[in-house]
Amino acid sequence: MSLINLPGLIDPHVHLRDPGQTEKEDFYAGTCAAIAGGYTTIIDMPNNKFPITTLERLEEKISIAKRKIACDVGFYFGSAGDNLDEFEKAKDKVLGLKLYLNQTTGNLLIFKNLLEKTFYAWSKSCSKPILVHAEDKSVEDLINIVKKINTPTHFCHISLKSELKMIIDAKEKGIPVTCGVTPHHLFLTEKDVKILGPFGQMKPPLSSKKDQDFLWKYLRYIDVVESDHAPHTIDEKRGKGTVFGVPGLETTLPLLLTAVSENRLIFDDIIRLCHTNPSKIFGIKTDSQTKIEIDLQKSYIINRKSLFTKCGWSPFEGWKLKGKVKRVFIRGEKVFEDEKILAMLGSGETIMNT
Ligand code: DOR
Ligand code: ZN
Repeated sequence: MSLINLPGLIDPHVHLRDPGQTEKEDFYAGTCAAIAGGYTTIIDMPNNKFPITTLERLEEKISIAKRKIACDVGFYFGSAGDNLDEFEKAKDKVLGLKLYLNQTTGNLLIFKNLLEKTFYAWSKSCSKPILVHAEDKSVEDLINIVKKINTPTHFCHISLKSELKMIIDAKEKGIPVTCGVTPHHLFLTEKDVKILGPFGQMKPPLSSKKDQDFLWKYLRYIDVVESDHAPHTIDEKRGKGTVFGVPGLETTLPLLLTAVSENRLIFDDIIRLCHTNPSKIFGIKTDSQTKIEIDLQKSYIINRKSLFTKCGWSPFEGWKLKGKVKRVFIRGEKVFEDEKILAMLGSGETIMNT
């Protein structure tokens, strides 16, 4: 067996659905999925059924999390541009502000005419990043706002060549932007939607091979791989109307390790994209006793039966991957070994960053 150690990974983009939609996921199942996937810290998005746009909802969410989480969890605040007076109250309890410029799960959406005011209010209250869900043309509008207000802004799940080009250009001009890509945009394309049907529907949608090739070619400009773990039940996925999102916590690292075994990546890329940069961008303290052990030689087939996520499916089901998480330690405590979770309910820490 050839084992290697990596630092505990950080996923800054997950939707654990708790409270409000715990039939899809909850803090315990979601954090067990994180640990099984090699993550020791994750950051939860605010588009809950009742969006996290007030201090009261945020505090309720944090207190539920404290009782259930098995790894460390941080939170983002949300805004539709109508809760600016909550920023000052919430800022110390979150790691950033998330804004949705395009429709996705939930109804947390901000109109373009409120963006500048919202950016300004957040940047006045703290220096934590603003994260944006911006597809296509919205990227350009936002870069102009970031240039003006000069506050650190993270573009989530970049999927198009045109988007990454604009971000590279902004970075070269010294505008404080960072960006993430998802494993599904790196490993699936629009062609897979034909096979996956509703299980291949997410926002942003899967893009063309040309777009995907551009993401791989310019990976050095990408700051973070973020799973955008967005579970929905199998029934909802199969049902009438589209629900957008795919789970990703348990498959992201194995996909990246497989890419290493195929010489498409090196380990340092994984450390940079899934540990060092997310830690820097979102202000997460690291600990040398928080680490994971990987069995590099282990090949296996992704099977829904062995997943911890409550939704119980994966768009990568049936894929043969190489490289498996063997053990996970958080602050020296063994929390996972050989497919078994050893962490206690509520043993993770909620991350506050004042
Ligand atoms: O596909 C997606 N699903 N994209 C998002 O931006 C949100 C997510 C969700 O919450 O389901
Ligand atoms: Zn998301």
